[in-house]
Amino acid sequence: MTKNNNYIAAENRYQKMNYRRTGNSGLLLPELSLGLWHNFGDNDNFKNARNLLKCAFDNGITHFDLANNYGPSPGAAEENFGKILKKDFKNYRDELIISSKAGYGMWPGPYGDNGSKKYLISSLDQSLRRMGLEYVDIFYHHRPDHETPLEETMSALDLMVKQGKTLYVGISNYHPKEAEKAFKILKNLGTPCLIHQPKYNLFDRWIEDGLLNTLKKSGVGTICFSPLAQGMLTDKYINGLPKDSRAVKESPFLNTDTVFEMLPKIKELNEIAKNRNQSLAQMAISWILKDDRITSVLIGASKTEQILDSVKATENTHFSEEELMNINTVLL
Ligand SMILES: NC(=O)c1ccc[n+]([C@@H]2O[C@H](COP(=O)([O-])OP(=O)(O)OC[C@H]3O[C@@H](n4cnc5c(N)ncnc54)[C@H](OP(=O)(O)O)[C@@H]3O)[C@@H](O)[C@H]2O)c1
Repeated sequence: MTKNNNYIAAENRYQKMNYRRTGNSGLLLPELSLGLWHNFGDNDNFKNARNLLKCAFDNGITHFDLANNYGPSPGAAEENFGKILKKDFKNYRDELIISSKAGYGMWPGPYGDNGSKKYLISSLDQSLRRMGLEYVDIFYHHRPDHETPLEETMSALDLMVKQGKTLYVGISNYHPKEAEKAFKILKNLGTPCLIHQPKYNLFDRWIEDGLLNTLKKSGVGTICFSPLAQGMLTDKYINGLPKDSRAVKESPFLNTDTVFEMLPKIKELNEIAKNRNQSLAQMAISWILKDDRITSVLIGASKTEQILDSVKATENTHFSEEELMNINTVLL
């Protein structure tokens, strides 16, 4: 809702969302979180970006996920997010969980990539400046770096907490063995790992092979990214290739060949979703949320309608044995 150009969040927003505890911590996260990887860059429509964040928050999505390199250009998503925070969310900072990350290449030279203390500490300082924040709520190491001692990377995360620049820390894209090692180091430093951010969706189920159990056993939360396989697990590609879709717009991460390859499975999954009275996007999200080891599903969106569609997934996260079997048969 916009009144005199001042955004006032929907009063009933917390009735529209369920919140789950993040591992053994005190922090509750919404079942759906919104990521700013796409649609918040230099070439994206700023008004649309503003509306996406407002729509999410009006529906109880309290968690916005960023990274130093989100754009394009790298850093642009954090800058745009900072502007929107200032315009629309300045009265809501304490109702928001804002995360950022570092771990991929961000600036030239030997200190702008990977997992050294030098890179991570400088990068968080830059992220805070871009967003106009004193602290983030969660800071992640974005991907494992096998060249840097894990002790150094984890002690950088610990230092950020001690400096008051982040409240919690997490890791992303770590495999079970290295994740367990990281949790142990962080625990010994007195900064327990809050959360792990892996990719997980109907087409990519690698975390079922050990990681989910490791996280449960370690009391660490799980927030899954790309739950819709970047839009493939929706009905948008069934009748052609929409011009404004991620696969058609220039994206190094999703191309039309992959969409065509997956199309037969997408069509079959869409039929199962219809029988559940869900859109395919809703079923893909519900399917993840059926597992109570999951804390939150981290969606992306290019349109407010997509957020409104996806939040309805939380209304039905139960699957019959037959539905699960039918889904597994399609995925074989
Ligand atoms: N830690 C990591 O390494 C890592 C990596 C990747 C992502 N992430 C995080 O995860 C977030 C989400 O990733 P993602 O964008 O790949 O997630 P996703 O939810 O799998 O894909 C989002 C895209 O799907 C389409 N979409 C979303 N809802 C829809 C709906 N209801 N109906 C039809 N289409 C719909 C939109 O595509 P169109 O643009 O085609 O409309 C949207 O941009 C990122 O923003 C980022 O925060 C983290």
